Amino acid sequence: MTTTELLALRHYSSEKNSTRTVWNHLSLSEFSLAPVQYRNTGVLFDIQLNGKPAGKGYYQLSEKILKYASAYHVPVMLKSVLGYLITDPSGIYVDGTLGGGGHAEAILERLSPKGKLIGIDWDADALQFSKNRLKRFGSQLITRRANFDELPSVLHDLGLSKVDGILLDLGVSSHQLDSDSRGFSYLKSGPLDMRMNGSGELTAFDVINQYAYKDLKRIFKEYGEERQAGRVALAILKTREKGTINTTDELAEIIRSVIFPNYVNKTLSRIFQAVRIEINQDLVHLQKALKSTVDILKPSRRAVVISYHSLEDRLVKHFFKKMAQPCEYLPELPIYPCEEEAKLKILTQRPVRPSAEEAAKNPRARSAKLRAAERI
Ligand SMILES: C[S@@+](CC[C@H](N)C(=O)[O-])C[C@H]1O[C@@H](n2cnc3c(N)ncnc32)[C@H](O)[C@@H]1O
Repeated sequence: MTTTELLALRHYSSEKNSTRTVWNHLSLSEFSLAPVQYRNTGVLFDIQLNGKPAGKGYYQLSEKILKYASAYHVPVMLKSVLGYLITDPSGIYVDGTLGGGGHAEAILERLSPKGKLIGIDWDADALQFSKNRLKRFGSQLITRRANFDELPSVLHDLGLSKVDGILLDLGVSSHQLDSDSRGFSYLKSGPLDMRMNGSGELTAFDVINQYAYKDLKRIFKEYGEERQAGRVALAILKTREKGTINTTDELAEIIRSVIFPNYVNKTLSRIFQAVRIEINQDLVHLQKALKSTVDILKPSRRAVVISYHSLEDRLVKHFFKKMAQPCEYLPELPIYPCEEEAKLKILTQRPVRPSAEEAAKNPRARSAKLRAAERI
């Protein structure tokens, strides 16, 4: 079932001042509509049926679709994101990690009709979902399937060079984690895949079945910060002697067999995180994207980054610091030897964390850290 099939169309009659359900489970592509006014859970529009004007209508997102939309991924620290990101409601913003479109929807609702959002995701499924979910914003939303480190060329293709704000909400969406076929989670049985863009050459299967002991140990240590990296790598190699390791269940079982039960869940998530980072080169892309934000942001405009593990957060923190304080002060030298100018002002001396209430409602938010900086 696609998202649009879940739409219920309600027809508004101004004479009777009432709404009634006309069609359920109708695809949006079956009729044309021009959004007139967006309301919280629906859109007023000019309706045409079989190419003929059929008056004004109001379509409402059904309970089901609203539930489905939020189940795809619940946006994290929404209020803080909006507060830090939007400085000009008529500006052009970038959501570099569109995902389920939760942040994007809230941003678009805040923008004036002149404002625009460029939504980017590497994952075709996320992009398709969000395009459907955010259809009512018409040309205010521009979507591109790309890696966020390609932002300069995406903007160039759109005839733009600078924007008014950039959001990166890193990592995987709940939908990706919950999807059996993607292999991102040790809680789901599936093939060892983990490609964020679904089409890269290297898969988790290749890493687990082909990497040498020292390389497995290195990625588990570096990208998973796992103390038992060597032990897990060795167990993988031993299992490989008997045959290939094909599924997330098999990998999880190998880890369970060598890690003390009290620590096993943490190790499982660290090893899966490490393999995901290796496959998708998350840290390389993030570093490149952060560098480009400095060239792309207009003065007094902001970058907001949410990370979910310490490697990413450390990278963001150090990058912002370097851009805010490019010269290292050396007390032993009488003069300040560096003439490089600061490019960013840090807005969050400490990372912003979700409230206890949000963390309780949305377990995924628990590890989130938001950092924001403003272009000088
Ligand atoms: C945490 S989710 C974003 C959720 C989104 N903010 C929302 O409210 O629904 C992260 C998204 O970023 C995408 N992503 C991860 N790395 C990416 C990259 N290097 N370039 C583009 N998209 C990326 C993933 O495919 C995923 O859809």
